[in-house]
Amino acid sequence: MNNHSSERLYLYPLWIRIWHMINAVLCLILIITGLSIQFSNPSVVVKFKTAISVHNIAGVLLAINYIAFFIGNLFTTNGHHYIMPVRGFFKRLIIQIRYYTIGIFKKENPPFPITPDQKFNPLQQFTYVATMYLLVPLIVLSGFGLLYPEMTLKSLLGASGLELTDFLHVTVGFFITLFMCIHIYFCTIGKTPASNFKSMINGFHESH
Ligand code: HEM
Repeated sequence: MNNHSSERLYLYPLWIRIWHMINAVLCLILIITGLSIQFSNPSVVVKFKTAISVHNIAGVLLAINYIAFFIGNLFTTNGHHYIMPVRGFFKRLIIQIRYYTIGIFKKENPPFPITPDQKFNPLQQFTYVATMYLLVPLIVLSGFGLLYPEMTLKSLLGASGLELTDFLHVTVGFFITLFMCIHIYFCTIGKTPASNFKSMINGFHESH
């Protein structure tokens, strides 16, 4: 018997839902304006100057929102979900990947059922930790480097410091965009395609 059937677990506290909503909206704005700046031409959807102003403001707001996430995870139990045990890490990751590629189609039960102590499966945990503690800090720091070029290194190993910062910013932006697309797709794999999205509004996760 599946003792998780139709169980409702309160996994997403209000502060994380508010942080996440602001973060998602800002990321969408940053991606649209970022692409408009990168591929600027007179007929783009968002005008170059407008795109830059909106991108700068959204970037600063994202940085402030990130600080809220960082402090929230430091001082509340939500932070526990971001501590990745190193032992057996790859083994757990492979079991989860096998489930997503084979097991799920055979209607097997998830290998890491969601509990209040373990709300992320190993793949989710890895991607959330990498995104929130590596990619987002890198994009925020490189963004500030571009906003205040006088603070950026003049040159590094003979290459222009500003160009390197720009390259880092655009590359990390690409990976965050990729994360977001895959993230939204995986969020549809819930009890119903919409249930994980509802969880991020009411805080309750619905198990299979
Ligand atoms: C429109 C865009 C987005 C949608 C619809 C969306 C949707 C969701 C949903 C449904 C969840 C809850 C299910 C789960 O834990 O997997 C979630 C959690 C999460 N999302 Fe997103 N997301 C979006 C954008 C983003 C972006 C841009 C980031 C990071 C840069 C992000 C990072 C996270 C994190 C870290 C969690 C776990 C939060 C926690 O419980 O501690 N999301 N997202």
